Amino acid sequence: MGIPIILMQHVDKCYSLDGVEVQALRGVDLTVDSGEFVAIMGPSGSGKSTLMNVIGCLDLPDSGTYTLNGEDVTALGGDALARVRNRTIGFVFQSFNLLPRTSAVENVEMPLIYAGIAKQGRRQRAQVLMESLGLTDRMNHMPSQLSGGQQQRVAIARALVNRPPILLADEPTGNLDSRSGEEVMNILEELNRRDGVTIVLITHEPEIAKRADRMLTLRDGRLEG
Ligand SMILES: Nc1ncnc2c1ncn2[C@@H]1O[C@H](COP(=O)(O)OP(=O)(O)OP(=O)(O)O)[C@@H](O)[C@H]1O
Ligand SMILES: [Mg+2]
Repeated sequence: MGIPIILMQHVDKCYSLDGVEVQALRGVDLTVDSGEFVAIMGPSGSGKSTLMNVIGCLDLPDSGTYTLNGEDVTALGGDALARVRNRTIGFVFQSFNLLPRTSAVENVEMPLIYAGIAKQGRRQRAQVLMESLGLTDRMNHMPSQLSGGQQQRVAIARALVNRPPILLADEPTGNLDSRSGEEVMNILEELNRRDGVTIVLITHEPEIAKRADRMLTLRDGRLEG
């Protein structure tokens, strides 16, 4: 048994829209140990992104408990929650979510500005990370001048620049051709194996999910082993 970095018990999450209630998560129990690589699968609408938002402290559960890296986050308010999020979690999304009129290296530096790191240190740290991700000659490109795979590598660098212990990736290969998707998976695998980054990956592709240590499935808001 390892040390749980994500510990969720009986988590419910309900959305109500125009008087209609959708129970997006129903009694979810999830334990992820530090250093694990877990894939979460499930059909469209099964609650994957909702679960990712709760894991990532972008949203709080309606009921149940959630302890992240030893801290009970359900007890925290907005600012404290944002601090825990910035310190603990890096996000990677299907659509990259880079700032369009900002160069690749400046996108990667962005979280360091919020973390209050001085300008010179920021550039240095962003460059070293980008070099390790094969982006040495793409630092000053704008996102629109990069391929999908390169944009996703910039997004991964941005997610990691604050050295969070957890990386959350929601369909990170969903917009990529199979070769770029394979490259992104190789990077995630190496981050996990070499650097011990805990990874939670959401995907609907079984071939992608197989690369994780453990696969879980969401069906209609319920998590199955
Ligand atoms: N902000 C919201 N307001 C109302 N209902 C929502 C909201 N977000 C999600 N839902 C509903 O909650 C359920 C779960 O949605 P979620 O986005 O978590 O699914 P998903 O598994 O990520 O699907 P996909 O594979 O299509 O991305 C769906 O029925 C969805 O319509
Ligand atoms: Mg989703």
